Amino acid sequence: MIPLLAFVAFIFSILCAGVNAIPTITAVGSKFFTSEGNQFYIKGVAYQLVEDDPLVNKTQCQLDASLMKQLGANSIRVYHVDPSGDHSGCMNAFAQNNIYVWVDMDSFKTYIQLDGVPSWTKNKSDSYRAVMDNFQQYDNTAGFFVGNEVLNSNADSAAAPYLLSAAVDLKNYRDAKGYRKIPIGYSATDTAILRPMLQNYVVCRPNATERLDFYALNSYEWCGSSPDYNTSGYVGLQESAEGYPIPIFFSEDGCNTVPPRTFNDQAAIFGPEMVDTWSGAIIYEWIQETNNYGLVTYGAAGGANQGSVVVDGFTRQGMPTPVQPDFSNLAAQWSTLTPTGVKSAAYTPSASAPACPTSTAGGWTVDPSSPLPTLGAVGVTPVYPSSATGAASSTSGAATSATSQGAAGRVGPGPFLANNAGLMSTVIALLAVGAGVAFWL
Ligand SMILES: *[C@@H]1O[C@H](CO)[C@@H](O)[C@H](O)[C@H]1NC(C)=O
Ligand SMILES: *[C@@H]1O[C@H](CO)[C@@H](O)[C@H](O)[C@H]1NC(C)=O
Ligand SMILES: *[C@@H]1O[C@H](CO)[C@@H](O)[C@H](O)[C@H]1NC(C)=O
Ligand SMILES: *[C@@H]1O[C@H](CO)[C@@H](O)[C@H](O)[C@H]1NC(C)=O
Repeated sequence: MIPLLAFVAFIFSILCAGVNAIPTITAVGSKFFTSEGNQFYIKGVAYQLVEDDPLVNKTQCQLDASLMKQLGANSIRVYHVDPSGDHSGCMNAFAQNNIYVWVDMDSFKTYIQLDGVPSWTKNKSDSYRAVMDNFQQYDNTAGFFVGNEVLNSNADSAAAPYLLSAAVDLKNYRDAKGYRKIPIGYSATDTAILRPMLQNYVVCRPNATERLDFYALNSYEWCGSSPDYNTSGYVGLQESAEGYPIPIFFSEDGCNTVPPRTFNDQAAIFGPEMVDTWSGAIIYEWIQETNNYGLVTYGAAGGANQGSVVVDGFTRQGMPTPVQPDFSNLAAQWSTLTPTGVKSAAYTPSASAPACPTSTAGGWTVDPSSPLPTLGAVGVTPVYPSSATGAASSTSGAATSATSQGAAGRVGPGPFLANNAGLMSTVIALLAVGAGVAFWL
């Protein structure tokens, strides 16, 4: 006879393993915390072996995840996924190696700004929601990006309100569906011309729902081993991020123009000057490609395309082999950098929202007092039930110099029914697994 308690514990452990058990990540104030109450710092790599979805081949993910563990990574960032794919094998492979996944929700056809025109439409929203629906079930989904480098020049500043509008829409959707509060943020181009306007704009509105949950920078300022915190430009990044009210981190990092890559900047990011402000870094990128940023290869370069196995002369599956000395240099940096930060129980957010940046003709053109654009475009039906029609704003297109049709048509967010059916089926599935195990014993 197995003692009852041990039996129950055994069943419980099986159930937990079945549901991808790993502490979940939330954003509180300017920091990330695990559900165990520890501050979470990202040590990540960008992971996109194939264009459409690198998270469907479990065997491949297991090979990569175990090498990433040796590297000391705790996160990957994936730019494109297929929301109809089965990601459970890969998500579990990463979870088993304590690796979290940061997912970009856009696809090539649904960027917030396409052909220079920003918009947030029902079509785009549905497509991002499908990604969220698929990935919210995994405990190691750490966060969602609502966009990557949507704004690159002053002329793009008109896109900023749409970016925020998209984030608000998706936060509302997340909460209405009863999903856990998976942080939703943005990955910005590190360009002086938009700094610090964009960074401040996405957190400046008085209504906290109309702010991002986190902000991140793709930064390639620190090249080679001779710069330091002061000469690299990081001192400037720190200046504009100090006191930022939401988590901020490097969503791409690791300049390669002065080889070998020594990743000395990691010591600054996780060191005394920056560690209280920044939540870590994601190194660009895992696979070696033409741009020469890879930390691993899957075989010699060259040769014709072969389906998704060889594309652009690079093999995209198989046993990963470290690119040296870069891989070992990064591993060595990370192994010495283990900040513990603050416990969530001891943390009270204190930073307040910065003022909204003022509008300047020919520069940052966003009128800070305008409401956010409403969801919709010509010929698109509003996504929310029309009970809140009275709240619809007809003027929000004027928030920016953006086309006004992008702002037409959306009514205020209305309630969604929480997905109790989904929860119930999960419970039933768990019971079924438990019953199956008991039967088998
Ligand atoms: C969005 O529109 C494109 C092209 O019109 C279509 O292929 C796609 O299925 C649509 N996506 C959604 C989620 O409706
Ligand atoms: C805050 O913004 C959200 C999203 O736009 C909106 O639903 C909510 O009503 C706003 N709350 C207040 C107090 O204005
Ligand atoms: C950066 O400059 C400050 C002020 O001059 C100095 O105190 C600090 O030691 C410098 N840091 C590094 C890493 O050189
Ligand atoms: C999945 O990855 C493994 C390891 O690289 C490979 O052998 C296999 O062919 C891949 N499967 C598919 C369907 O691509």
